[in-house]
Amino acid sequence: MPRYRTLIPATLAIAAALFASGSAMADTLDATGHLEVTGKWTAKTRGQALTPPMGWNSWNAYRTEVDEEKVLGAAQALVDSGLAKLGYNYVNIDDGWWLKRRTSDGRMLIRTQIFPSAKLKGDSSFKPFTDRIHAMGLKAGIYSDMGRNACSQRFDLHSPNLPEGTAAEREVGLYGHVDQDIDLYFRQWGFDYIKVDACGLNYYGPDEPVVKSEGYRAFAPIIDQSAINRTDIPQVRALYQSVSDALAKSNPDNDYILSLCNWGTADVRQWGHDVGNMWRTSQDITPEWTRMLHTFDSAATRALYAHPGAWNDPDMLFVGHGDFDENHLTEARSHFSLWAIINAPLIIGYDLRKAPKSLLDIWGNADIIRLNQDKSGHQAVLEYMSDDVEIFVKTLSNGDKAVAIFNRGLAPADVALTAAHLKMTGTIALTDLWSKATQSFSGETLLKVAPRETLVFEARGARQLADGLYLSEIPGNIHVAEDGVIVPQPDPMVHRMISPWDSSRGGGSRAAYTGWGGAQADSTPYDQNLQVAGHPFATGIGILAGSRMEVKNDGFTRFETQAGVDDTTQNLKDAVIFQVYGDGRLLTETKSVYGEPAKTLNADISGVKVVELVARADNRTSDLPLIVTWGDAALKK
Ligand code: GLA
Repeated sequence: MPRYRTLIPATLAIAAALFASGSAMADTLDATGHLEVTGKWTAKTRGQALTPPMGWNSWNAYRTEVDEEKVLGAAQALVDSGLAKLGYNYVNIDDGWWLKRRTSDGRMLIRTQIFPSAKLKGDSSFKPFTDRIHAMGLKAGIYSDMGRNACSQRFDLHSPNLPEGTAAEREVGLYGHVDQDIDLYFRQWGFDYIKVDACGLNYYGPDEPVVKSEGYRAFAPIIDQSAINRTDIPQVRALYQSVSDALAKSNPDNDYILSLCNWGTADVRQWGHDVGNMWRTSQDITPEWTRMLHTFDSAATRALYAHPGAWNDPDMLFVGHGDFDENHLTEARSHFSLWAIINAPLIIGYDLRKAPKSLLDIWGNADIIRLNQDKSGHQAVLEYMSDDVEIFVKTLSNGDKAVAIFNRGLAPADVALTAAHLKMTGTIALTDLWSKATQSFSGETLLKVAPRETLVFEARGARQLADGLYLSEIPGNIHVAEDGVIVPQPDPMVHRMISPWDSSRGGGSRAAYTGWGGAQADSTPYDQNLQVAGHPFATGIGILAGSRMEVKNDGFTRFETQAGVDDTTQNLKDAVIFQVYGDGRLLTETKSVYGEPAKTLNADISGVKVVELVARADNRTSDLPLIVTWGDAALKK
């Protein structure tokens, strides 16, 4: 693991002192072998999430007031409406199902008052419930917390469904019971999916009023949502890893999904893909337009961190409620389109027993779902951005592109969609996946996008790179094994709304999710255009030195790029060596480069399964971000 995964203030002080004294620092990151090539695809492959998970969850519909009738009603509605056939097959219970932990043996007991089929003499079991869900051809999901206590015990104090009993009995979270609970939920009760929240790691410190008023056992927080340097990243990761390991043990058939719900904290952006099948990138969504922007933005520029088996999760859908209800279908369609194109899990949060056709038509748009579920798993890349309009482009497995043009604002927008945005050339045929209208263009087409509308097209035409694919077109084939970020930093590009909880009291919600400086497709890690020694690159991968990417090669014979230190680098001292490996063998490399034109690297990758791209700082003297560009990086036939 890279150094500084946790930045305790003392570490910061040492780093500052080193800079102040001008001491030379070896590039310990490189020297300790973190950039060691592996010769293989090392991303996590466990669990069942080759495409983004789809289904239903009780939280956005009922908060803690979930019960068996409601959940089975949702399951039946998924089947009856045809949504199940379109892929919505997970039926997930969220917070509220638990009664207590039996202290004699630590076994979790279900609130059978609301889940009557779980009642057993002196005990309880969800097996009859999951049997029913399975008999409907669906899968079942459950919910827990990584700490001792759960979110409802801190935030829903008036809930009728809070755990009961002594303080020990109310410790319903996984902490200290990981193997026991996972075995119970999966092997004994038959669940297929678990969402693991993190309130117990965050909100039960000794000074929290609720700890005193409710008599909970204090847990010194290891997550601080506003301060990455006060978050114990290795420990948070290790706890979630223990769940991941327990799941593998309890599920010899590999039929499970692990959903990490620590709200974009603890730098989960960087390690979520190695531990879980999906990871929340932000705090909770609410049914408000600006809150949707907030959670969307937290995931929308993380394309290189997701791939089959591992997805960015900007939280569940709120289609059907508030700003996304039946009276706001433009907003509802936008919310759905955006989640679909960035490969977010599509988890409905609505009382489906009474869903109107207008909403069913949104969740049920088979063309939009097809984009989300495309087997190549390339999250759309942000190809144009402004505060008003964004253009996202996603490569599909048949070589076509999907494009979403999103008007974030309240005025109609005139948008020029260009062939270059799509990395296409010649005549391009567009099909509108909402209206089904078709058109074609070459060069560019002018589009009017209504306020808050998202146009989604499938685009067919000749690719700009006739004999290959740019790496920025295939993020799902890339595993960012090491992104070179030394000090995780909050991402300032995330929309900051008026807090749904605190209104405008206090100073406002400041950027809190790390990710700034992470690897980017067609942009530098700090949202600038790619440029080396004055030469701009319209396409490429922007990343920091001290990085290693694994790229799956599906039959291409050449890897080509123009690599160099990006003109936006903040580190004005150090040089970089660029190396290309094929299945662990060094194929080609540059000499140490700095401040000079990009170097051409051209490697024969015939028969190679995994290409590794390493940018190694050469005898590093400064810890400032050393920004590099793999310009025009491409796999060619
Ligand atoms: C947290 C999660 C939500 C939901 C609630 C339940 O806030 O982020 O998605 O599970 O807890 O209390």
